[in-house]
Amino acid sequence: MDTPRTFLLVLVTILTHSFANGCVLNTDPTFSRWKQFGYNNVPFIFYPGDYTAAEQSLILQAMAQIKSDMGSCFTWTQYTSPPTDGTNFVIISKAGGPGVASQSCYTYPGMITLQQGKGQYMAIQSGVNGCLSNVRQVMRLLMSLLGQRFEHNKPNRDAYVNINRGIATAVSLNYGAYNIYNKSLVLSNDADFDYNSVTLLDPPTFSNTGNPVVTGKTVGINNVGRLSLKDCQCLSFLYSCTVSCQNVYSGAPLPTQFIVIPTSTSTSTSTSTSTSTSTSTTTTPFAFPFDLGRRR
Ligand SMILES: *[C@@H]1O[C@H](CO)[C@@H](O)[C@H](O)[C@H]1NC(C)=O
Repeated sequence: MDTPRTFLLVLVTILTHSFANGCVLNTDPTFSRWKQFGYNNVPFIFYPGDYTAAEQSLILQAMAQIKSDMGSCFTWTQYTSPPTDGTNFVIISKAGGPGVASQSCYTYPGMITLQQGKGQYMAIQSGVNGCLSNVRQVMRLLMSLLGQRFEHNKPNRDAYVNINRGIATAVSLNYGAYNIYNKSLVLSNDADFDYNSVTLLDPPTFSNTGNPVVTGKTVGINNVGRLSLKDCQCLSFLYSCTVSCQNVYSGAPLPTQFIVIPTSTSTSTSTSTSTSTSTSTTTTPFAFPFDLGRRR
């Protein structure tokens, strides 16, 4: 057999095998995997002054949990100032970029393919429309950043979950948080739904009552801040990992995890770091408001 054909055969086999499982992967070529210089690596900065030490710690914990559940197949590399060597990176901020501040969390579903080291914003903020109350909420957004999109927006989701728009916040409705993805921009298996995915909304998110907006039709949604077996298998497929994925939800229920972080309002702790306020990078980073991972 010639090599390209063999490769194609292997790829199709992997695809077919992998997508006997759930999950929704980005296929929009505008966004790529975070693979740079031969490594699975997500370089990032925290927007200066946006986060308290506790909030930074929560975000770092979410990164570490994904890394650990993926057998260290990825690295998250924190910079104290924007890299200037053309490395593509993420700017984690509350507002999600200049201009009108986002009222919710958002991210692009992957690395902007043509970023050219300018940086791309993502919004991580607290509140009922945010994603900063616990590690699981942050993990959900980070999964989208890596290229695995939200399970409750997948094209076949109405066969598996109910969406109670009546108790959903106005912000989430306005932002299209329950829209179904454009089928030509994602890869997913219509015959499956992963009720354990960390990409699913937890009960407080977008809820006016505290009851979950999204609920399983026959099976309950259960995730407490660990990747599900299928989350892990999907990312493993996307990033060519060799991790042996664990099913942490197969046995007894895991302890519930609710660490509510006090809202910051930039306390005086300020952690006077590395002064590098030069920010002389004249290029404007990519930003657009109000993306809940639903774009196009
Ligand atoms: C879905 O995405 C494709 C490719 O970008 C685009 O041509 C099409 O108009 C989109 N469909 C909808 C309904 O937005």
